Amino acid sequence: MLSKVISALCLTLWVSHCTVFAAEDPYLTKALKLMSETPLIDGHNDLPWQLLKQFNNQLNAVDLHTLNTTHTNIPKIKQGKLGAQFWSAYVPCDTQYKDAVRQTLEQIDVVHRMCQNYPDNFMFATSSQDIMTAFNQNKTASLIGVEGGHSIDSSLGTLRTMYQLGVRYLTLTHSCNTPWADNWLVDEGSDPSEHNGLSQFGKQVVMEMNRLGMLIDLAHVTVKVMNQVLDMSEAPVIFSHSSAYSICKHARNVPDDVLRRVREKKGIVMVNFYNDYVTCSETANISDVADHFDHIKKVAGADIIGFGGDYDGVTRLPEGLEDVSKVPNVVAELLKRGWTDDEVNKALGNNLLRVFSEAEMVRDKLTNNKPDDVPIPYAEVNKNSLCRTSHGYPDDITGAGSSLSTLGLQLTLALQGLLLLSAL
Ligand SMILES: *[C@@H]1O[C@H](CO)[C@@H](O)[C@H](O)[C@H]1NC(C)=O
Ligand SMILES: *[C@@H]1O[C@H](CO)[C@@H](O)[C@H](O)[C@H]1NC(C)=O
Ligand SMILES: *[C@@H]1O[C@H](CO)[C@@H](O)[C@H](O)[C@H]1NC(C)=O
Ligand SMILES: [Zn+2]
Repeated sequence: MLSKVISALCLTLWVSHCTVFAAEDPYLTKALKLMSETPLIDGHNDLPWQLLKQFNNQLNAVDLHTLNTTHTNIPKIKQGKLGAQFWSAYVPCDTQYKDAVRQTLEQIDVVHRMCQNYPDNFMFATSSQDIMTAFNQNKTASLIGVEGGHSIDSSLGTLRTMYQLGVRYLTLTHSCNTPWADNWLVDEGSDPSEHNGLSQFGKQVVMEMNRLGMLIDLAHVTVKVMNQVLDMSEAPVIFSHSSAYSICKHARNVPDDVLRRVREKKGIVMVNFYNDYVTCSETANISDVADHFDHIKKVAGADIIGFGGDYDGVTRLPEGLEDVSKVPNVVAELLKRGWTDDEVNKALGNNLLRVFSEAEMVRDKLTNNKPDDVPIPYAEVNKNSLCRTSHGYPDDITGAGSSLSTLGLQLTLALQGLLLLSAL
């Protein structure tokens, strides 16, 4: 009898001990387990930009194991179970019409060098298959996304060359209009609309990206551009780092009607953690971030959700999500809110893998289409670009042609020169 009481007591103590122990956070334990089975694939991280800003890309002078002035380093990546990352090859809009292409190439180069310098931690990746290969080797699959159409300088040849260098998405604009697409600041009212969405050349860029198998990223564009691309693109689209507009009415976020169209297109919206996009204020917490996941799921289902933290690209992050090591906390919060394992696995990586392999299938289907070699009309690119030559265009003002149009242009230039002189 006594021994029965004692053993019952022991059992109770043992169970309550276990409960107390596990109650540290059973959801976090579960989150980490799911993340060891399905890769967390994040859509946007600006570590390369920090490497430029803090070290002028002198990677040999940096140790990514101990670097502590960024949201991202190797120990944080391990702790956060970052399975795959689209590293951003971002250069600011003030490079547009100047050295945007060179600077973008340098950001692509620094990602390649990062993978070479830390072969045990990073594997350079260019396909959905590569992501799983890297994950199975316990390495972070490292992909490149170029953030902003200004980086291709209105050139399909440059777009194709960047694909050859491993770039697998292009965000059509950053926070400036390009000569062929309007950016989100148009919707916010601080930039003028120049193209009412995409120009004809902008549509060529979209079609060429389908042909290449490069993902089209609609973070940073106007709602008009979002809808135009959803109309035309054969492949599903991505939002690499945007949240839900209904939860925080910021023009960088995605409205509900667009969420529903993304579902029809089987695309993905990868949720941004930047406080200003999460709560439209300077502060936020994990629960606020989970509200975006819940909302997108409610409006368009769990098949279009992903992670796009924007680490190292933003200055304010939610309490409990301060760096990349903390991402499992969001996963735990989703589990706590009743998300099924299947829904969590989709958000972690399965949705992005589906979108990426679909874009690869569209590429394979279009394999017999010729590369588009029709250049942007010169008049659409020369106005802001003092240093752009016109070699190859029929009215090549820098060549020695003697066609009527060349003559006309030379006369115009001469007149402009006279006007300038008289203005002095
Ligand atoms: C960050 O790293 C530097 C250089 O390795 C070190 O001197 C410094 O103490 C570190 N700071 C913190 C807060 O760990
Ligand atoms: C990856 O890590 C897991 C868990 O730590 C281990 O079981 C597995 O053997 C590792 N795989 C490789 C290829 O190193
Ligand atoms: C998170 O912040 C919101 C306000 O944005 C607040 O209502 C909520 O209680 C906070 N949640 C936690 C868990 O701190
Ligand atoms: Zn951005």
